[in-house]
Amino acid sequence: MTEAEQAESGAVTAPAVELHAVHKSFTARRGTVVALADVDLTIERGEFVSLIGPSGCGKSTLLRVIADLLQPSGGEVQVNGKPARRARLDQDYGIAFQQAGLLDWRTVQANIELPLELHGVDRAERHARAEELIELVGLTEFARHRPPQLSGGMQQRVAIARALAESPALLLMDEPFGALDEMTRERMQNELVRIAGETGAAVVFVTHSIPEAVFLSDRVVVMSARPGRIVNVVPIGLGARTDDTREAPGFYAAITQVREALRGLPVPQTVEVGVSVENALRNSAEGAL
Ligand SMILES: Nc1ncnc2c1ncn2[C@@H]1O[C@H](COP(=O)(O)OP(=O)(O)OP(=O)(O)O)[C@@H](O)[C@H]1O
Ligand SMILES: [Mg+2]
Repeated sequence: MTEAEQAESGAVTAPAVELHAVHKSFTARRGTVVALADVDLTIERGEFVSLIGPSGCGKSTLLRVIADLLQPSGGEVQVNGKPARRARLDQDYGIAFQQAGLLDWRTVQANIELPLELHGVDRAERHARAEELIELVGLTEFARHRPPQLSGGMQQRVAIARALAESPALLLMDEPFGALDEMTRERMQNELVRIAGETGAAVVFVTHSIPEAVFLSDRVVVMSARPGRIVNVVPIGLGARTDDTREAPGFYAAITQVREALRGLPVPQTVEVGVSVENALRNSAEGAL
């Protein structure tokens, strides 16, 4: 096996993301801000991990470091078993941020095709792939519409379809549902769980909502502010998600665990299923940060 083939086969089994001792500081006129300190995290292939923590704790910075849009000041970042820069050049991941960031003058179909077009995929292949994705996100009737003619939730679905265009093994999402109303947000969460399951993509998802993090994730990574550090990683053992999940005692128990982790309390290793619904309801009402 050549070195290149070995690297290739290694990449097939390597975790989606590996961060070792990642540090990031920004130097401004008024001094240095340490945005990330000692961040160690491994995200397995196909795993769904949310990042949660107070504003300014470094969540977006961490996502940008993984995406190689920012250079860490120290430490090591591997994506799919490759240095982050190589993974970016190989388009190993898709990105969706809070603003859908669509081109208003292009149709839904043409927006989704854009990354494929930029990377020289031929017209017929581009078309076929975009149609498949439009169906996946439930927008077939809107393929010829332009973004200003769509609701916020529909625009986000286009952005997610675009992020999936190149079948990335990794999706990086920074508060993608932050601007949506509660019902649309829940529908989008259901769709994201389904899409991540169907495509087998790993997801790193930044959110301020504890219930959202719990509903979506295999693990919730809790960060503290200044400097941004990982203070806790809460495993969420809820199994396959359905609408009933949102009313299950285990869901409320996991919300409580994440809330307590955010308050810096020690977290028991297993989710207590016997938590009283009244308590849990009160906790979840306070859930959004
Ligand atoms: N380009 C930059 N130059 C200087 N400081 C920056 C830069 N980007 C981020 N920071 C600082 O790094 C820290 C972390 O910022 P970051 O945007 O990662 O936080 P966040 O957790 O995503 O916050 P929010 O929840 O409000 O989005 C903040 O103190 C911020 O001021
Ligand atoms: Mg942010």
